[in-house]
Amino acid sequence: MTAERAIPVGTSVSVKVPATTANLGPGFDTLGLALSLYDELEVTVRDAPGIRVMVSGVGEGEVPTDESNLVARSVIHVFDHFGIPVPGLEISAHNSIPHGRGLGSSGAAIVAGIMSAKGLLTGIVDVDSTMLLELATELEGHPDNVAPALFGGLTIAWVGDGGPKHKRLIAHRGVSAVVFVPETEMSTALARSLQPASVPHEDAIFNVSRSALLVAALVQSPELLLAATEDRLHQSYRASAMPHTDELIHMLRDNGLAAVVSGAGPSVLVLGSDPSQRLKAAELVAKNSSTAWQALMLAVDFKGATVIVHPVDGSV
Ligand code: HSE
Repeated sequence: MTAERAIPVGTSVSVKVPATTANLGPGFDTLGLALSLYDELEVTVRDAPGIRVMVSGVGEGEVPTDESNLVARSVIHVFDHFGIPVPGLEISAHNSIPHGRGLGSSGAAIVAGIMSAKGLLTGIVDVDSTMLLELATELEGHPDNVAPALFGGLTIAWVGDGGPKHKRLIAHRGVSAVVFVPETEMSTALARSLQPASVPHEDAIFNVSRSALLVAALVQSPELLLAATEDRLHQSYRASAMPHTDELIHMLRDNGLAAVVSGAGPSVLVLGSDPSQRLKAAELVAKNSSTAWQALMLAVDFKGATVIVHPVDGSV
């Protein structure tokens, strides 16, 4: 980058990224839904080298505030990809997405960093949607959280020879979500270590049928959600690591509600075919659970991550 193309000190971007819930039962590492709970941040180019991070809300006093911060690493990843030196930056993050609960907080941090870099590089390089997904997936390892965080709505993500791809769909307007968030955290790495290397053929067929049905249920026929959210690929293998989650899911499903593990857990997602099912789920949990769960009544986010650029001189 030449001196003329350097990003002026004082240039800033505002970024907003939704929480996401992945898997949705049978769609392991594939299906994801963006939800109306957000991390927001401002990133400003400063007249000093290095990256300084300030965090308020979730993660305050816990996450790193230097260049090892996940948002900062994601910004650096994009600049490095284009061979452009990273300017001095101040990142101010206001987080609402709970950490370690299966609501895509690490995917949101990665997408926040990548969208910030995209905004800062406006007029220098174009980071299109294919590249956004590639860069985010390189950092996250799988695309099922970063795709809905980037693009909103319901996403089908897959990895082909040419890298990660996605198809975005609009969920049926009757679909509503409630997420029950426990006080304990779950490590995605631990959850993934509990997965077997291979599964019986009949279980694979079982999940293929339910995943196909789930796309139809979410887009067109929400009354099919209970049958469409059955799974044999991951939840039972991980249940021993989150017994309260497993218990809650069985209780809710026995009562006719489409409850699944949100992402790698331990939160429980209930997909309702109409908003009254959220209240029914909340009442059942309040009445029947011995452990504490925070109920988050959420809408589907249709926008995905947004970035607004604030140039200092109107030139960006
Ligand atoms: N598909 C992922 C998993 C989501 O269940 O392991 C969590 O990152």
